[in-house]
Amino acid sequence: MEKKLQGSKRGFSQREIPIPPAALLLLAMVLMNILLYLYLDHVFVSPPPSGVEARPCPFGTFRMGQMKNCSPWLSCESLRTGVRKLKRVGEGAVKRVFLSEWKEQKVALSQLTSPEVKEDFLHGVKMLKSLQSEHVVLLIGYCEDDGTFLTEYHPLGTLKTLEETLNLPKYQSLNTWHHRLKLAINYVNIINYLHTSPLGTLVMCDSNDLDKMLSQYLLTSSFRIVANDLDALPVVNKSNGTLIKCGHRELVGEFVAPEQLWPYGEETPFYDERMPPYDEKTDIWKIPDVASFLLGHVEGSDVVRFHLFEIPQA
Ligand SMILES: Nc1ncnc2c1ncn2[C@@H]1O[C@H](COP(=O)(O)OP(=O)(O)O)[C@@H](O)[C@H]1O
Ligand SMILES: *[C@@H]1O[C@H](CO)[C@@H](O)[C@H](O)[C@H]1NC(C)=O
Ligand SMILES: *[C@@H]1O[C@H](CO)[C@@H](O)[C@H](O)[C@H]1NC(C)=O
Ligand SMILES: [Mg+2]
Repeated sequence: MEKKLQGSKRGFSQREIPIPPAALLLLAMVLMNILLYLYLDHVFVSPPPSGVEARPCPFGTFRMGQMKNCSPWLSCESLRTGVRKLKRVGEGAVKRVFLSEWKEQKVALSQLTSPEVKEDFLHGVKMLKSLQSEHVVLLIGYCEDDGTFLTEYHPLGTLKTLEETLNLPKYQSLNTWHHRLKLAINYVNIINYLHTSPLGTLVMCDSNDLDKMLSQYLLTSSFRIVANDLDALPVVNKSNGTLIKCGHRELVGEFVAPEQLWPYGEETPFYDERMPPYDEKTDIWKIPDVASFLLGHVEGSDVVRFHLFEIPQA
C-alpha cells in the first residue's frame, strides 16, 4: 500500500499534468470526504423515531419526557407557582440558570440577571419560541414580565465540558471518532439551520472565543447537540443590505473571523462607527476550530481531522 502511494506520487512529478497539483489534491480530498460520508451513512443507520417523539408539536406547545400530548407553553402563573428551584447550575452575563422541578420532572429555570440586559433576554426568548426544532433546546414556558423562562434540563451540560463527560466511565464507549464526528456534523447542521432559519439568516454572535461558543450549546443525554443560548442572534439580509456586527467593542484573538477584526491597524484607535459590518460567514470561519475540538484526540480523530481540514494537526 505504501509503495503504491509512493509510486503514484513519483508518477505525478514525472508526467505532464494539465491540472495543477493543488487542484488534484483538492479533488482527492473531496472524494475522500464523500467516501467518508458514504461510509458513515452506512455505519449509522439511525433508529426509527419512537412514535412519541416523531411529530413536532404545533407552535406554542411542547411535549417532553413521557408526555403523550402537546401542552401549551406554561404561563407566568404556572411558572410562579408550579416550579421549584433546586440548585444553580450556571450563570452568564444575561441569565442565571437553576435546575428546578416541575410536576416531578427536572427542568431548567433561566432568570434574568439584571434589568440592563433585559433586551438581550427578550431577544433570546423570541428566538427560542421561533426556532423550536430538533436543533434548539425545548422551551416549556416563559414569563417576560418576570424575566424567566423554562427549558428542558440537560444533565450533561454544555459542550464546554464534553471532554470531562466523555471521560466518565458511563460514556467512555462513546469516546470514539465515529461518535465525535457525528457531533461535529450535528454542530454544522445547527449552524446551517440558523443560517436558513424561518426568521432568515441568523448569526451566532455570542462566540468570541472557543469556550464562549461551546457554552452556548448543550449536550443531550442521547448525545446530540442543541443550541441553547440564543440571546445574540442578529439577522442578516443581503438582499436589503442588512449586515451585522457582533457587539460594539473591538474583537481580538485567533478565534473570531478575520472580518471581525479592526482592519485599520494598531495605530488607528478602534471606533465602532468605522468598523465595517459583516455577515454569517463569521460562523463558517469558526467551524474548523469547533469541529476540531469536537473530534478531540482519540484513536482515528487525527485521520478524520486530516480529511476534513487537509492539514494534519499535532
Ligand atoms: N437547559 C439547561 N440544562 C443544563 N444546563 C443549562 C441549561 N441552560 C443553561 N445551562 C447552564 O447555564 C449556563 C448559562 O446559560 P446561558 O443560557 O448560556 O446564559 P447566558 O445567556 O447568561 O450566557 C450555561 O452555560 C449552562 O452551563
Ligand atoms: C430580505 O429582504 C428582502 C427585501 O426587503 C425581502 O423581500 C425578503 O423577504 C427578506 N428576506 C427574509 C428572509 O426576510
Ligand atoms: C431587511 O430584512 C430584514 C429581515 O430579513 C428586516 O429585519 C430588516 O428590517 C430589513 N431592513 C430593511 C432596511 O429593509
Ligand atoms: Mg451563554
